[in-house]
Amino acid sequence: MAKIIIVGNQKGGAGKSTVVSMVANALANAPYQHKVLLVDADIQQSIIKRRLGDVRFIEGVTPYEVVYKNIAQFQKDIKQLDQEYEYIIIDPPGKLDVNLPADQQEVTKFLLYADHLFIPFAPGNYVVESTIDFLKVALQIKKVRKSKGADLEITGFINMFENRTLDDQFLVQEIEELQDMFRMEFMDKKLHRYALFRNVDTISSFYEEQSSDRAKRNFSKWFNEFYKIVNDG
Ligand SMILES: Nc1ncnc2c1ncn2[C@@H]1O[C@H](COP(=O)(O)OP(=O)(O)OP(=O)(O)O)[C@@H](O)[C@H]1O
Ligand SMILES: [Mg+2]
Repeated sequence: MAKIIIVGNQKGGAGKSTVVSMVANALANAPYQHKVLLVDADIQQSIIKRRLGDVRFIEGVTPYEVVYKNIAQFQKDIKQLDQEYEYIIIDPPGKLDVNLPADQQEVTKFLLYADHLFIPFAPGNYVVESTIDFLKVALQIKKVRKSKGADLEITGFINMFENRTLDDQFLVQEIEELQDMFRMEFMDKKLHRYALFRNVDTISSFYEEQSSDRAKRNFSKWFNEFYKIVNDG
């Protein structure tokens, strides 16, 4: 049985694709060497495009597999994938359409299969209202999962935080509100940027020499916490 993990949010650009790639990478390589499938369900297929270049250049690194699947293909294949892989990580499509009911959204259809939802928060990216819309839908899905004897664990995490700008301060306020209102759990409450380099959404960027030690350290710290959350339940 695979653990199914989604990194999703309401607003774009907070690091979904980056994080799912890095997580897939870390899980597939030493010391873990898990069987990992990354499902790129984003119509832009940004991960798949980057990966085609990567795989040719890097030796000695186990590539995680990445495929594009829309929700219909995913629903058709999930039974088999669930047996084949230990982890299925999903970069979900699109944003919530607040005019549609929860059960008609593509992202919610994926969430119905997920054990974990990780929500990235980046400074300058959020207004609390849109996050709340997204969370409300996620909590509805959690109920559905629970009624089937499963769960959807929801965890927030902070990306690209420097504590220098007004945006950073707004983000701190938003997080405090969400913690009060929804008792939402956040990873690594001491805020910091977990990775300090650009274009981290490829296998090469993380393993190539010029990616900084600090970035690697920050990421492994973040990843250790992530791994514990995902494997405690
Ligand atoms: N920790 C990080 N350190 C440095 N740069 C980052 C980090 N996380 C993301 N980025 C950069 O921020 C930009 C947006 O990240 P990414 O594409 O992963 O977001 P996304 O949520 O997938 O966006 P979209 O909604 O467009 O799919 C990219 O240029 C990425 O390289
Ligand atoms: Mg993306």
